[in-house]
Amino acid sequence: MSYNIPIRPRRNRINASMRSLVQENHVSVNDLIMPLFVIEGEGHKIEVPSMPNIYRFSLDTLAQEVSELWDLGIKAVALFPAIDDSLKDSIATESLNPEGLFQRAIKTVKSTCPDMLTICDVAMDPYSSDGHDGFVENSEIINDKTLPILAKMAVAQAQAGADIIAPSDMMDGRVSVIREALDQAGYSNVGILAYTAKYASAFYGPFRDALDSAPKAGDKKTYQMNPANTREALREAELDTAEGADMIMVKPGLAYLDVVQTLAQNSQLPIAVYNVSGEYAMLQAAAEKGWLDYRSTVCETLMSFKRAGADIILSYHAKEFASWQKEA
Ligand code: PBG
Repeated sequence: MSYNIPIRPRRNRINASMRSLVQENHVSVNDLIMPLFVIEGEGHKIEVPSMPNIYRFSLDTLAQEVSELWDLGIKAVALFPAIDDSLKDSIATESLNPEGLFQRAIKTVKSTCPDMLTICDVAMDPYSSDGHDGFVENSEIINDKTLPILAKMAVAQAQAGADIIAPSDMMDGRVSVIREALDQAGYSNVGILAYTAKYASAFYGPFRDALDSAPKAGDKKTYQMNPANTREALREAELDTAEGADMIMVKPGLAYLDVVQTLAQNSQLPIAVYNVSGEYAMLQAAAEKGWLDYRSTVCETLMSFKRAGADIILSYHAKEFASWQKEA
């Protein structure tokens, strides 16, 4: 191309009105899912040490938090229960208890705000005495013995009022098994948000502290993906899609924006990204030291997910972002 007049991209950045007119991407509270940690007891709102301003809620304070989120425009929460060690076993029995903490948490959310969507994590780790997402036998994670456990867990959550089941376990074939179980139990309207490209990441550290859910032995590398791979994410996406996922997710977020973009360009399903606990902790820690401007870096981070092609963002920043929007 040749031209004899100067081309000036800066004209489109000349003032705030112009910049907003030509802005390509936007973050909206409509896109955000707020993760919430739930504990037993009453009157508890206990800060997670490695996640300032993020709390473990007992059911009464959970109700209060959910109403606040709803008032701020947040329409979806992802629930994570911290299960007492005495209730953990090798087959995640407690996950099926209709009076279990997770089930009561789902009911609490739905009775507080009936239109608040409940996104419910399915994996064995919160309930497992081994701390793994799958069933362990002789130090191995046994895929096909895990599947029926996950399917029953999903149905138990649907019974309690789950809107969306989010399998985070990375077992092969889990989406189809869960879909079939939900349909057979009469929950064909309950959706599946598959953790499709979930990497074996060190960025989950603060989450495992929050729930005391770290593996007792070994690591999660035989089921979670190798951080070095992108084409493998396409393979997982193809499988989850064929098995009936309604939405697919990439996790973690910031270090995996290329994977978000690749899936967004290759899938017809809504793409979610999980801005995980370690990513939250990094910004909080830098801000605490006065090394970064917290609010600007949070907004820039959330925007990066939209720019990469994410439709949905799970983020511990969801509540504060919504409150900033409200102020604006
Ligand atoms: C459990 C699960 C994990 C996260 C979400 N679901 C931890 C893990 O896989 O070890 C991590 C979320 C975060 O770090 O914010 N399967």
